[in-house]
Amino acid sequence: GTTAIAQDLPQLEQKERYKVGFAQMESNNPWRIAETKSFHDTAEACGWDLIATDAAGSAAKQVADVDSMIAQGIDVLFLPPREEKPLIPAVMKARAAGIPTFLVDRSVDPAVAKPGEHFVAFLGSDFIDQGNRAAQWLMENFDGDQGVIVQLEGTTGSSPANDRKKGFDDAIAADDRFEIVASQTGDFARDLGRQVMETLLQAHPDVNVVYAHNDEMAIGAIQALELAGRKPGEDVTIVSIDGTRDALQAIIDGKMGVTVESSPFFGPLACEVMKKYAAGETIPEWVKVEDRVFAKDNAADHIDEAY
Ligand code: AHR
Repeated sequence: GTTAIAQDLPQLEQKERYKVGFAQMESNNPWRIAETKSFHDTAEACGWDLIATDAAGSAAKQVADVDSMIAQGIDVLFLPPREEKPLIPAVMKARAAGIPTFLVDRSVDPAVAKPGEHFVAFLGSDFIDQGNRAAQWLMENFDGDQGVIVQLEGTTGSSPANDRKKGFDDAIAADDRFEIVASQTGDFARDLGRQVMETLLQAHPDVNVVYAHNDEMAIGAIQALELAGRKPGEDVTIVSIDGTRDALQAIIDGKMGVTVESSPFFGPLACEVMKKYAAGETIPEWVKVEDRVFAKDNAADHIDEAY
């Protein structure tokens, strides 16, 4: 029979300029726009000839965008995979084409595609920990007797939706004051967050906590609650993730309780890691981004740097 020989990861040579691909998944929220801008802002100083695409919310288009980058002969690929499974072919094709790939901000199914083997490394936050810290804040700050929670999930099949749910659900299960009465996707989008919240409010008028997997959906939920005559921040506690400008403003206005940071500013980190890789340094499989927590005590200090 044949013996499978493990092949080394594609290498990156040291040179002045690199043809760099950044295959963005969508641009329908401030987080995504800030991330793409961060890559553009880094390009000049890092010697990148940047090819940036926008898959407009379609995993299939994101795979096709990577195909076209491979055809254009990129030296290195930065990929935020929209969903964990559908983007695996893109990772494998880049691997087969000898292009070193770094996953940024989201990851793929680790049972199939692995760092150090199919791609170089994952650069990003610990989403389980973010969900955990959102739950922690809620358990420490909720002053009612019974917390009736509605959860607005991110894009189905995406690593942040899977992990932010797990981190939150596991932590909250230990506190019997709380019950999660509904958990539905709002696709990380403000509009859908608002619509889903409107529907869930009909079914669960006693909701007094909303946990949203990102700030855009939290803002959408606040709009739905206010339309229904509720008072977010007073009779409904809003817990969220990201740290956008609108969320920090909502905290300052007393409508939102907390947002756990998830930074979109990946350009400088991508540059640094890529240069180290080209210099032959060993890159950890997970280059972890440290996140802060924004609440009433510090939101005003960070709003000027927000996006
Ligand atoms: O992958 C990170 C998530 O994706 C952010 O929390 C969200 O706002 C974005 O769309």
